[in-house]
Formats: sequence, C-alpha cells, structure tokens
Amino acid sequence: MKIRLGLFDSGVGGLTVLKRVVERHGNLPCVYLGDLARVPYGEKSVNEIQKIAKEVVEWLVSQDVTAVLIACNTTNSLALDLVEKIAAVPVFSLIESVVSMVHEKRIGVLATQSTVNSRAYTKKILESDPDKFVIEQACPMFVPMIEAGQINSFKMRLLAFEYLQPLLKANVEAIILGCSHYPLLKPLLKELIPENVRLVDPAVGIAQKLDNFVCNTNFVDSNNLEFSNTRFCVTSESTLFSETAMDLLRIYPQLEIVSLRSKACVS
Ligand code: DGL
Repeated sequence: MKIRLGLFDSGVGGLTVLKRVVERHGNLPCVYLGDLARVPYGEKSVNEIQKIAKEVVEWLVSQDVTAVLIACNTTNSLALDLVEKIAAVPVFSLIESVVSMVHEKRIGVLATQSTVNSRAYTKKILESDPDKFVIEQACPMFVPMIEAGQINSFKMRLLAFEYLQPLLKANVEAIILGCSHYPLLKPLLKELIPENVRLVDPAVGIAQKLDNFVCNTNFVDSNNLEFSNTRFCVTSESTLFSETAMDLLRIYPQLEIVSLRSKACVS
C-alpha cells in the first residue's frame, strides 16, 4: 500500500514528532504542515481550535495523505473526534499513544493552557488506571518563546524552573511533555529535575503506534536521518522555522507556503 503521512502542528513543535517517526520508520513520504500564521494554538478557544483543525485536515487530505498524525496535543485534546470524523483515513494521536508508555504512579504533565483546561491527559491516564495521581501544569510562555528562537535564553531557564515546581513538589516520578514543542527543551528540563524523574515524549508512542500501519521498522541512526521524502509546508513565511529544523533534523528545508487562513480563525 502506498503510504503518505500527513502531520500538522501550529509551528515547529510537530517536527519533534516527524523526527521520531523517521527515526523509527526511515525516509517515509510525509507532508508536514506548520500553521505559523496562527501559532500559538495553546491559548485559543475550543471553537477556534476545531475550526482550524477542520481546515488543516481537509487540506492534508487534499494532498492525498493516507494517514493523519495529530502532531499537536492542543488539537488532540480539543478536536480529536472532529479530526477522526473528517479525515476519512486513519488518524494517529499523541495522547492516546502515550498512556501505555507511563508505568509510574505519580505523573506530571507539562502542556499548553488549553490542553490543561481540557484535562485530556488526566482523563486518559485515570481511565487506564484510576489509582494513578496526575498533576498538570500549563506553560503558556514556552511556545511563543520557542517559536521566537529563545530556547537557550536565561528567561526560558527561569520559566522552566517555575513551571516545574508544582510537579516536583508533588513528587512526580515521570513528566509527560504534553506539547510537541517541549521536547526541544529536553536538555534544559533534564538539568532542572532530579535524575530519578523520567521525561516522557509522546512522539515515541505515536511512532510505535505506526508499526502495523507502515509495516517496516528501520531504526535509523538519529544522526543520519533523511527527510528527502518530506514536504515542509507552512502557512506563513519564517526563517526561524528552517533554523529550528536545521538544529533538530540537520537539514535546511525548502518551505512551501500554503494559504489556509480563514478569517474566523485569525486570533
Ligand atoms: N505544539 C502544540 C501542542 O502540542 C501547539 C502549541 C501551541 O501552538 O500553543 O500543543
């Protein structure tokens, strides 16, 4: 069967998901859409997120994708049912993929405000084990700062320290990176948490969930990834997107600009 995966996120965050997928499955045909014209999603209303999701998924389907990967936790929390309804191809989601990866009893979640408000992570985790303890922390400044290229700034360190405190005070044993942008902060977060607290990246789970669909598992050396079969599409021009791709994926992508922006969705 011909495979072409459609991945989408508000910006660079979904590239962390693309990377995990290519690490596990090789240079698959992918269409990546970064909705830079409307980033960040994390503060938007449910209504706005759903309108955007509909527009984005319809566009991906028009590009002949054979599966949709929701590489955005905010959309995953607020519009999964809608995406599944309109996609007409299999849909893979981060939150549903990660639950089976977390065996610890006390779990922290870092996510956008909208994801935290939805309690999607808490609900999914408690559904599989009601005895678990889950605490969620919104990190509203992370995405705007990552998109502005301030990953290594001192302000980012202070913010990360502050956002982590409620989780560490609650003695969590694992922290889920509940926004696809946050794996870009992994080195910083690791410095700020005790060694025995595990950082969990839901993208690892979604890449595993693809095993049966893709029917190949190549385990490519992560220093030698190839993305020549991926189209990198964005809804607004950006040099920072390409620079982040360069740091993360070791390639400088040729960006295709697509126009999706419905007036109803402009923040
Ligand atoms: N990376 C997305 C997520 O996983 C969206 C973040 C945002 O745009 O606020 O939630």
